[in-house]
Amino acid sequence: MQNFRFICPTDFIFGKDAENAVGEEIKKYGKKVLLHYGGGHIKKNGLYDRVMENLKKHKIEVIELGGVKANPDIGLVREGVEICKKENIDCILAVGGGSVIDSAKAIGIGVYYDGDVWDFFTKETPVKKMLPLGVVLTIPATGSEASNTTVVTNSENGHLKRALSHDCLRPDFAVMNPELTYTLPPYQTAAGGVDIMSHVFERYFTLEPNCDLTDRLCEATLKTMIKQLPKVLKHPENYEARAEVMWTGTIAHNGILGVGRSEDWGSHMLGHELSAFYDMTHGATLAIIIPHWMEYVYQTDIQRFVKYAVDVWGIENDIFHPEETALKGIQKTKEFFRSLGMPVSFEDAGIDGEKIEEMAENCTKNGAVGGFVKLEKEDCIKIYEAALK
Ligand code: NZQ
Ligand code: ZN
Repeated sequence: MQNFRFICPTDFIFGKDAENAVGEEIKKYGKKVLLHYGGGHIKKNGLYDRVMENLKKHKIEVIELGGVKANPDIGLVREGVEICKKENIDCILAVGGGSVIDSAKAIGIGVYYDGDVWDFFTKETPVKKMLPLGVVLTIPATGSEASNTTVVTNSENGHLKRALSHDCLRPDFAVMNPELTYTLPPYQTAAGGVDIMSHVFERYFTLEPNCDLTDRLCEATLKTMIKQLPKVLKHPENYEARAEVMWTGTIAHNGILGVGRSEDWGSHMLGHELSAFYDMTHGATLAIIIPHWMEYVYQTDIQRFVKYAVDVWGIENDIFHPEETALKGIQKTKEFFRSLGMPVSFEDAGIDGEKIEEMAENCTKNGAVGGFVKLEKEDCIKIYEAALK
């Protein structure tokens, strides 16, 4: 096990009616809040009204900024930074999914900087601090409610989607009511589920051999998703199953599953290019990339893929044919994603291979990607090509 430091200071308020805690929580940080949200699902299902009423009850002044798109853009972030500076905002409340939360995180760091907030994403400017941030989570997926990361797209500047990580980006509190996820369309539920699993894969496929506890936690997390995801797709209002998925999403990406080991993140980098070029849903990009990434890299450590097949999918361990066992685990992964209604190829997603060269170029602009296996531009091209059909 490698040396590590792990901090996850987010205060989780989990369960039915949890959103009624927002006013009380925001009061700890000030009296004026920026309410940040997306395309309006919260207005349709009544969450917006409940949150507003609660904030009013606690005499909190609200300035609103809605309209965050999936794969949030730097343009709206810049607008948010201006509003926060002009209005002397004390704290941000993000109500929505990863896109809204990430947009709020970017606004929160931009407030403390005089230059363009995009400079943080090009790594020209180091991140130091973020305005206090509260979250009301409406989709289990990215883990942004507790992660140290924000992912923002710059659509003006050559389709760039960039992640930025720093411990100050972890929200101060996260309200998590599984009932708020009942209104999710099946496609978003499934894409969120694949994203959650992918956050485990990025950590499970590691070069560090001695991390038994973390391996077992990863396997438990994956098995929970394999058990619960089909349930929520079949019965969207199954509270217990929704609750399992929601909490699993947080555990998968708050960092606990990566301690003491190296991580990969190549699949995410490859997937981000698909989002940047085709505006695809993050989880769907991963459903396409992950099985093909696995097929491309499994020979690096066949025994790890055998362990995955056996301990996660319950495949019989054929000790005389480890490669076959490993490949069966990969095949199961692909079939599972497909059974959720996710695309597992470019063709399924209705996109062609025209941009492959450009995507691979952008993906490796700052050097090879991935920790388990380092992927150069040529490797990225091969994985994209394998994913065509
Ligand atoms: O815009 P609204 O109206 O909120 O609708 C959203 C959006 O259309 C809808 N939705 C969310 N909750 C709903 C709902 N519709 C009905 N009922 C509900 N309860 O779902 C759509 C997708 O929302 P979005 O926030 O985009 O989804 P997600 O949480 O998957 O976030 C994706 C973004 O997060 C980034 C991704 O790259 C992508 O940009 N990620 C962030 C990470 C992080 N900060 O740590 C890590 C991840 O790996 C990921 O990269
Ligand atoms: Zn992800």
